[in-house]
Amino acid sequence: MDNIDIIKNLDKTKPYLDHKNAVLSAPIRHLFMMGAVWYLNKNGGKKPLNILEIGSWFGASTLSWSQGISLYSNKNSSITCVDAWKPFFDMDVHGDNDYAKEMEALLESDFAYNIFLHNMGTIEDKMHTQHFRGKSENILTQLKDEQYDVVFIDADHTYEPVKKDIGESIRLVKDGGIICGDDLNLQLNEIDNNFAMNNKHKDFIKDPLTGKNFHPGVTIAVSEYFGAVSSWGGFWAMQKNNNKWEKFSLKDMEVVYPNHFTEKHIEKAKSHYNDIKDSLY
Ligand SMILES: C[S@@+](CC[C@H](N)C(=O)[O-])C[C@H]1O[C@@H](n2cnc3c(N)ncnc32)[C@H](O)[C@@H]1O
Repeated sequence: MDNIDIIKNLDKTKPYLDHKNAVLSAPIRHLFMMGAVWYLNKNGGKKPLNILEIGSWFGASTLSWSQGISLYSNKNSSITCVDAWKPFFDMDVHGDNDYAKEMEALLESDFAYNIFLHNMGTIEDKMHTQHFRGKSENILTQLKDEQYDVVFIDADHTYEPVKKDIGESIRLVKDGGIICGDDLNLQLNEIDNNFAMNNKHKDFIKDPLTGKNFHPGVTIAVSEYFGAVSSWGGFWAMQKNNNKWEKFSLKDMEVVYPNHFTEKHIEKAKSHYNDIKDSLY
């Protein structure tokens, strides 16, 4: 089926994530996103939470936040999404990258945006959801200080944009709230720092020291603001306590798989979770 037929045939009652680019990063990270919501309400009370997501794509992560709210919070919660849903890769740098080319095509045609709208329409508990379509550097500056319990950063992963997104997000998190993000595959103390610095304008590269792939922009920007952070399978987070940023533990969180995942995503998340569960903190 081509993309136009996919959109025409969507079932209004069901999320659509059965597309090879629907869940872009490791599915396990969605468990820890829900874990972050669990953490904020783990003492009971199901207090309402305001979540800001920067970079929503098809809405897979947005749906995970909404499931976290359904499990641990209440309907007076809100999810605000910021995304330009427009091509954003610098093709002079990423022109040879098939992954970037596929994303650009899905953004250019508005397929990604239409699937996001569809997926948002399937959120059952009618919690408050809204989205702002525009570049984060233009939207975040218009949001008020300390409004959000969770700010999740998952937009452009090259250095300058991540640095700007973190810089604004720090101001937007309430005391006691969490700043977090996707795609911290490696932290700065694990990698060849010079190599990372020289390639920080690139999206995804192989670190010569570990032989592992990582996003240098995310690794460097996160480290510049926070040093070493809490990180579980590449989902990173810090909690704001009395204006200090502190690590926290998700060791005791419930393990819940996203309802909107396909079997394939769940299998991947389960096998990854089994690999790392003994080393979680
Ligand atoms: C990695 S995807 C987000 C994936 C999503 N969080 C998920 O897990 O399902 C990155 C998204 O960021 C958006 N984006 C990239 N640069 C942006 C910018 N400067 N401002 C706003 N959105 C941006 C892209 O349009 C894309 O939808």
